[in-house]
Amino acid sequence: MSQPITNAPYAVTPIKGNFGAEITGLDLATASDAQLAEIAELYRRGSVLVLRDQKLTPEQLVRFGEALGTLENHTREQFTLPGFPTVYILSNKEVDGKRIGVHRDGMGWHTDGSYLREPLDTTVLYALESPPEGADTLLADMRAAFEALPADVQQEVAGKEVLHSFVYLIGQLDPEARSVVTAEQAGRAPDVVHPLVLMREDGSRSLYLSSGSTREILGEDPEAGRQRVRELIAHATQDQFVYRHKWRVGDVLLWNNRYTMHRATEYDDKAYIRLVHRLWVAGQGGLSS
Ligand SMILES: [Fe+2]
Repeated sequence: MSQPITNAPYAVTPIKGNFGAEITGLDLATASDAQLAEIAELYRRGSVLVLRDQKLTPEQLVRFGEALGTLENHTREQFTLPGFPTVYILSNKEVDGKRIGVHRDGMGWHTDGSYLREPLDTTVLYALESPPEGADTLLADMRAAFEALPADVQQEVAGKEVLHSFVYLIGQLDPEARSVVTAEQAGRAPDVVHPLVLMREDGSRSLYLSSGSTREILGEDPEAGRQRVRELIAHATQDQFVYRHKWRVGDVLLWNNRYTMHRATEYDDKAYIRLVHRLWVAGQGGLSS
C-alpha cells in the first residue's frame, strides 16, 4: 500500500510516483476556500488528481473549477448544461429523442485544446452516472515519457516546433463528432505552433503531443513529421507511463493538458448510461520550451 503524502485530514495516495495523487475523505461540496486552494496546490505538484466520493451540484463543481483558474465557455454550446456555459456534458443519454451531450469523443490519444494559441490548462471530469465496466479514462505521463527517452533523442526533439490545426483535427474525428462543429466554430481557431518539449516551472521537461491536431513538425517533411509524432506517442503511451482511471459515480478526475495525453475507452452504450460533467480551465499564456 502507498503511504499518505501529507498530514491533512484526508488521505492522499500518490499515483505513479510524481504523476499525481488520489484523495479520499474530502468533501468538495463543503470544503473551505483554504482547503480548495490546498487541493489546487497539491494538484500542481503533479499532473493528475482524483477525488473520490463527491456529490456536487453544478454550482459546487464550478466553484471547485474556479479554485483552479478561469473557466472557459465551451465551443459546442449545444452540449452545455442549461444555465451553466462552462459545464459541458459527455453522455450517451437521450431526452425526447435528442442526445444531451457528446458521445464517442476523444477515443484517440490527445490533449485538450492543443489547437489553441494558449492551450487549455486543466480538464475536470465529474461522473454522475457511470457504466459498471468500460469507459475508463487513460492518462499518459508526458514528463516520465520524455525523461525515459535516450539523451540524443531528448536533445533532438527539444528544439522542435509542431504545427497544430483545429481543422486538421476535425477532419480526423469520428463522423458523429465531426458533424456538430460548424465552419464558424472552426474559424475561431486558426493553426498554431507549439514547442514539442515543454519546460515546467520546476525545470523538468515534458513531451507535448496530440494525435488529432499535430499536422506537421516545422522544418520536416509533413508525412515524416507525422510519423515521428506517431512514434513518440507510441513511446509515451506504453503501460509504464499510463494511469488507467476506472470510474465510480462521484469521482472527480482532473489533469493538466500541458503535461499529459488522455483517451477514452469503449463501453456498451446500449446497456449502460454514462453521464459526466466537464470543465475546462483556461491556459494562461503560451507554452514555454
Ligand atoms: Fe479530451
